[in-house]
Amino acid sequence: MGDEVARLFVAVPLTEEARSDIAHLVGRAAPRGLPGRPAHPDKWHLTLRFLGDVGAVSRDRVLAELDAADPGPAFRVRWGGLGAFPNPRRATVLWVGLEEGAAQLTAVAAVVEEAVEAAGFPPEDRPFRPHLTLSRIRPHQDVTALLDGCPSLGVAMPVDRVVLYRSRLGRGGARYEAIEEFPLA
Ligand code: 2AM
Repeated sequence: MGDEVARLFVAVPLTEEARSDIAHLVGRAAPRGLPGRPAHPDKWHLTLRFLGDVGAVSRDRVLAELDAADPGPAFRVRWGGLGAFPNPRRATVLWVGLEEGAAQLTAVAAVVEEAVEAAGFPPEDRPFRPHLTLSRIRPHQDVTALLDGCPSLGVAMPVDRVVLYRSRLGRGGARYEAIEEFPLA
C-alpha cells in the first residue's frame, strides 16, 4: 500500500444543482445525444492540474503543499457556451466553457500549480484552459452545428474548494475518488 502508485488530479467539483441544470440544458441542445463518448454528469469536474501516476511519497508532498497553500476566498463562476478541442471542425473533446469567473479560477489554478511544483513536479507546459468535458470524440467529428445551436448555458455555481482526486481506469471508463478537500476561505 505504501508504495502504491495512483493517477491523480486536482479539480473543482460541480455542485449537484449545476450538474442537473447543465445536464438538462445540454440535453435540450442535443436531443439525440452528444457525439462521441459522453462523460456521465456524476463524473463532471473542472480540472485545475493533472498529475498523472504518483507514488505515495510524492502524493504526501502534494497534500502537504496544497494544505499550506492559500487559494484565496470562495467565488462564483458561470458556465457559458460549448466549445471543442482542438477546434469545432475536428473536435475530439466537447466541453462547456466559463463566461464568468475564469480569471479567478485561473488564479486558483496558478496557486495549485505553485504547490504542485513545490512538491517536486515539473511545470505544466500547457496553458490552463478552464473547461468541463462533456464528451470525448474518437475519431474526431465536426461539431460546429451543435455549438452554433447551443446558447450560453448561464449556469452559476460557487467555487468553494479544490479537491485532490484519484482516477481509477477500468472498463466502463474512469472512476474518480476524492482523496482530500481544500476549502477556499
Ligand atoms: P479532460 O477533461 O479535458 O479530459 C482526469 O483525467 C482529468 O484530468 C480530466 O478532466 C482530464 O481533462 C484531465 N487531464 C489533463 N491532462 C490530462 C492527461 N494528459 N491525461 C489524462 N487526463 C488529463
